[in-house]
Amino acid sequence: MTVPSAAPWTLLEHAPLQSLNTFHVQATARWLLHIADPQALPQALALPAIADQPLLVLGSGSNVLLASDPPGCVLCFGNRDIAIVAHHADHAILRAGAGASWHALVMWSLQQGLSGLENLALIPGTVGAAPIQNIGAYGVQVGEFVQAVEVYDRDLGQFLRLDREVCGFGYRDSRFKREPDRYLIVAVELRLPLLHELRLDYAGIRDELAAMGADMPGAPDVAQAVINLRRRKLPDPDVLGNAGSFFKNPVLPQEQIGVLCHQFPDMPVFPGEHEGQGKLSAAWLIEQCGWKGLREGDAGISADHALVLVNHGHASGAELLALARRIADTVRERFAVIIEPEPRVIGAHW
Ligand code: FAD
Ligand code: EPU
Repeated sequence: MTVPSAAPWTLLEHAPLQSLNTFHVQATARWLLHIADPQALPQALALPAIADQPLLVLGSGSNVLLASDPPGCVLCFGNRDIAIVAHHADHAILRAGAGASWHALVMWSLQQGLSGLENLALIPGTVGAAPIQNIGAYGVQVGEFVQAVEVYDRDLGQFLRLDREVCGFGYRDSRFKREPDRYLIVAVELRLPLLHELRLDYAGIRDELAAMGADMPGAPDVAQAVINLRRRKLPDPDVLGNAGSFFKNPVLPQEQIGVLCHQFPDMPVFPGEHEGQGKLSAAWLIEQCGWKGLREGDAGISADHALVLVNHGHASGAELLALARRIADTVRERFAVIIEPEPRVIGAHW
């Protein structure tokens, strides 16, 4: 059913979600609300059919696992406007609507001569979702460039502009991720430099630039190198359903890492964000447990990257979740390390 309305939204009943999640699992939304103009949110959320119902925002569904039908209403943002809202001598402020494509924003910013986002090229998903887990890749996290996040605060019933300092960004974490039912992100403002020092230290970037013949690389060359690396390493969700890394890399105290390094001398260790911490590779832990490339029914682990849970066709969200739990169990039994999912699991407890 479509509720006809002159208002800047549409409300569908019993909407299929298979094309709205990159695992391509089947699920149905009782209600699907599409908002073209976020200013209409208070009015739309008061519609009798959905008022007081649970609400789940979905962008491209590239970081969710729908283990069952989400209860209540699914909300999608259609505002895709991207603009430079302030020019300064050495930087500019770019503002983008929640519904814009993240990768399109990265490429557009580079075309405008702005830099900073090049290492974050080709991350799937929407602009509105980028601050949720502080998306990161190749040594850069989006939080570094966030000027402010514009939200609708459901607890206060108000639109707010939250400066970066209060967004609580961390590794795959933010204030928004910690309070998932409170904030609806309607737009993001980014502070992007005209010139900045390129980050080339992540494994593979320099080699890829050399292979491209980019001796004096600029930010667009780095974006292309990252795109090439990502295309080689990660399965394309349009071909093989997945949500990127299914587990976060575990961050542990140095003492525990020391003990593990003694037992497993080949184990890779990366610096943590805080002193006294280190980060392990969840992919390595999973590969050591023998899961890489394995498949149970249509649920499996990518043969190209041990951190990527994949749907070979008709796996249900519950089957993918069951496999992920078994993987985490074997890692805990072998290494005494707890690994946790990166995507939000909907309709089941991890
Ligand atoms: P969704 O999956 O739709 O939603 C994710 C979460 O954000 C949900 O909790 C949802 O409710 C919430 N949310 C979404 N939009 C809003 C909003 N406007 N307001 C409030 N809450 C909202 N991530 C990385 O960090 N680095 C990577 O390198 C990376 N690589 C990936 C590679 C592949 C092949 C895939 C499939 C995924 C990858 N990801 C990566 C994960 C994913 O792309 C990001 O987390 C992305 O930001 C998710 O965007 P989305 O629009 O699909 O969000
Ligand atoms: N490795 C293995 N087996 C594999 C793959 C990797 O042992 O099959 C080991 C190798 O030692 C390798 C190390 O893991 O050196 C790191 O691998 P990679 O560079 O691919 O990074 P990652 O830790 O697996 C993280 C992010 C990715 C991001 C890349 C690049 C997390 C959870 N994942 O992956 O983000 O694109 O770094 O920066 O932090 C995502 O969040 O969805 C995602 C894809």
